[in-house]
This record gives sequence, structure tokens and C-alpha cells, in this order.
Amino acid sequence: MASEEQKNIDYEKGTVSTVDLHDSVRRENPLMPGGEGSVGVVLLVIASLILILGGGQLFSTANGFSDSIYVNDNYQPAPRPSLGGGEEEGEQVAWIEDWMSDGKKVYNNCIACHQASGLGIPGQFPPLVGSEWVDGGTSRLGAIMLHGINGPFNVAGQTYNQLMPAWNNLSDEKIAQVVTYVRREFGSLPEGDDGVVTTEMIKAAREQFSDQTGPYTEAQLLAIPEGDKLPGSPVDLQTGGPLGAGGGDAPAEEGAEA
Ligand code: HEC
Repeated sequence: MASEEQKNIDYEKGTVSTVDLHDSVRRENPLMPGGEGSVGVVLLVIASLILILGGGQLFSTANGFSDSIYVNDNYQPAPRPSLGGGEEEGEQVAWIEDWMSDGKKVYNNCIACHQASGLGIPGQFPPLVGSEWVDGGTSRLGAIMLHGINGPFNVAGQTYNQLMPAWNNLSDEKIAQVVTYVRREFGSLPEGDDGVVTTEMIKAAREQFSDQTGPYTEAQLLAIPEGDKLPGSPVDLQTGGPLGAGGGDAPAEEGAEA
């Protein structure tokens, strides 16, 4: 009983229920001035304004949300690489440079004996630099390449007595490339000789020396006249086409489109 009485405090006249007391307070003093929810309306208006103005600002500065802002007007796509090789203007590499770099690759077969420098190994493998066989006509060189040499063999006043292997299992083109490389890189060529040996010339050499079986002796090679040249037309070092025949030596830029 005592606890029931403590809950109902007598403020002025008598016992007043706490529930009644709070009811009246709540009725006279609304929680928010101006009525419940009025702050929410203000916030809603402010938030809407921010969204509208902000959106407008973005729209005008970001080019109307167009993806064009990612596009650079000055962008130039790179030119497509040419599949034809060497025909495109500007990028053109002279034919002879390709021919020589292919010849240098084939020369890897010769390095063990004649060395990358072409100086050979004294007493064992003859030099190509300063060799009368390299500086001379292409017929002797073609014969040497296709069938090899069995020593004793004299080069620049020195005698070598080993075996120079035959290279007739290489294609005509590869033999032509390596002989061109050897002549232009290591030879001292006569005036007017550009050192180029073509596939056509090696093809002719295969026919010309087809009777040979086994490697040559020095005497056999000396029987081929020193200045003899393999048959074949000279080529335009720029284009690799035949020289002088039907405008073959016209500037490459002119004829490329036709
Ligand atoms: C296994 C070693 C060996 C290899 C590899 C070799 N040669 Fe020779 N070459 C010789 C020898 C040895 C001679 C000298 C002849 C002899 O003693 O039989 C010779 C001679 C020559 C000659 C004539 C003489 C001179 O010095 O000018 C030429 C040209 C030549 N070789 C070119 C080549 C080329 C090009 C290649 C690569 C495709 C090649 N040789 C690979 C060993 C080799």
C-alpha cells in the first residue's frame, strides 16, 4: 500500500497521478514550435534546391552529360602498320639493307671458322678480309659455296689444309645473301662492282657447276678464270628490281601506287 501512495505525489491539493500530469504538459507544449513536421518541410525544400541547382551546375559544366568530354578533338589515330612491307612511303628501307641483314644471319654458319670479323684464325681458317677469292669474280665464289674446298689451299700467301664444307643444302636465296654480305662487308671490290649476288646468279651457278662431285681442289678452282662473273642482271639497290629495264630505277615513291 505504501508504494502505491508514493507514486501519486500531492503537488498542491492532493494526490495527482503522474500520468495525468504528463498528459497535460504534452497537450499545452507541442514538441516543435509551429507544429509537428514543419522543420521537415524546410529541409525538403533546401535539399531539393541543392539537387536542382547542383544538377544544373553539373549539366552545364560537364557538357550536358555527353561522353564527348572524353574525346580529344585533336586526337589522330596512329597509321596502321603495313602488311605489304617496304612499300609504304616514308617507312621505306632500301632493299639492299634487308638483303645484307639477311646475309648477316646466314653468315652465322661461318663464324665458327672465319670469325665474325672475317679475319679467320691464323694457321687454321683463312680470312675473308684481304682474300683474293672474295675480291675476285663471283664464279669462283659460287663454286666454293656450292661444293666446298679440300686443302691444301692458299689464301693471301698462307696455306690452309682443312675442309671448307659445301653449302648446297642452303637455298639459292640464302647463298646469294651470304655471298653478298661477305663481298660487301669484307671484300675490297673493283670500281663499279656493288658486290651484290642475286638468287638468279646462284641458280645459274648450280647449273654451271652441277658436274662437280665432292669438294674442289685448289687446282680446279684456279681453272675458273679469275674475273669470271655469274650470269644475271644487276639490281636496283633501292628496290631490288632489275636495273634500267622498263623504268626499274624510277624513284620508288612514284611507282608505288600503280
Ligand atoms: C668448319 C669450318 C668452316 C666453316 C663453317 C666455313 N668455312 Fe669457309 N673455309 C674453311 C677453310 C678451312 C677454308 C680453306 C680451304 C681449306 O683449307 O680447305 C675455307 C675457305 C673459304 C673461302 C675461300 C678462301 C677465303 O678465305 O676467301 C671462302 C670464300 C669461304 N671459305 C667462305 C665461307 C662462308 C661464306 C661460310 C659460311 C656459309 C664458310 N666459309 C664456312 C672453313 C670453313
